[in-house]
Amino acid sequence: MRVSRSNVLLGCVLLCSASLLYLGLSGLDCPPGSQRSRWAELRRSSANPNASLAERLPEDTPLIFIGGFPRSGTTLMRVMLDAHKAVRCGEETRVIPRLLTMRASWSRSVKERIRLDEAGVTDQVLDSAVRAFLLEVIVGHGEPAPRLCNKDPFALKSLTYLAHIFPKSKFVLMVRDGRASIHSVISRKVTISGFDLNNPRDCLSKWSNAVETMFNQCVAAGPERCLPVRYEHLVLRPEREMRQLLRFLELPWDPAVLHHEELIGKAGGVSLSKVERSTDQVVKPVNTDALAKWVGHIPDDVVEHMAEVAPMLARLGYDPRANPPDYARAPPLSNPPLPWKVAEPSGAA
Ligand code: A3P
Repeated sequence: MRVSRSNVLLGCVLLCSASLLYLGLSGLDCPPGSQRSRWAELRRSSANPNASLAERLPEDTPLIFIGGFPRSGTTLMRVMLDAHKAVRCGEETRVIPRLLTMRASWSRSVKERIRLDEAGVTDQVLDSAVRAFLLEVIVGHGEPAPRLCNKDPFALKSLTYLAHIFPKSKFVLMVRDGRASIHSVISRKVTISGFDLNNPRDCLSKWSNAVETMFNQCVAAGPERCLPVRYEHLVLRPEREMRQLLRFLELPWDPAVLHHEELIGKAGGVSLSKVERSTDQVVKPVNTDALAKWVGHIPDDVVEHMAEVAPMLARLGYDPRANPPDYARAPPLSNPPLPWKVAEPSGAA
């Protein structure tokens, strides 16, 4: 009897030690949630606990904005940058593009503009309020880092405005063959306002318009402020593309960006949302599996008139008659030939 009681005691001691060891070890790899609460604690313990997080960041904070049409590799780009030791992007905030759309609507109507001016709600007042909101969300939704970044695909529809309210910000526009993006949107049933997923022709034409809006603003912002990155080149030659990107962002080379998958869930690494659609794909190392998945899935009558349906394909250097084009040979977007020149289709592949 005495022997079995001491055995029970020994068992309890071992169990407690194992639990303590486990808790200690899991503390080393802080899950993203605890990083966030540490950030919130930092705020509470500051000299002025009521000060907003954004108040600590000046207007000329060099934020990084990543965007593009959904299903263009925007999440892959942000996780690769998240792996850089100086950068934190984090999950989509979802509210940032909504606020930007709302802000654009306030100044659209002349009548409303006059009413707002009369009330002292000038553009300056509104811009300052929008800047504070954006900073508060960008800073507050993740870990602190020397360079903060935001990835909400359609935020870049307001690229010119963002460039205006954040004069030191830089933009990364993900560009992908629209046939691949639209095939992915339709097959994964991604809801995009105004897109009829039963109508591939309409989706491709709307893809073209949406990408044109973003691409024109990227070009207008100039090569110092906006870098278009071709998804196909990013997955075909990640090191070359990432070296170019980090030079553009004025960040030192960090080989960790080529192995983002190793830093998922690690402190200072890559934090993923359980509910974002691309999470199941970005957990994998960079791969080329999705390059030509769309081929054979677009109705023949749409394929036949592709150049007219989606004029941005040719402008971005994707041959509308090639199914699929030779992506490795697509012209670079950031060097001559200049991206705003219409590329001549090179003939069917
Ligand atoms: P498919 O749906 O064609 O597979 P976004 O994040 O902008 O919505 O883009 C999603 C696309 O990024 C997906 O396209 C997916 O394949 C691609 N992607 C995500 N992780 C990737 C990885 N590790 N390597 C290559 N492509 C990846």
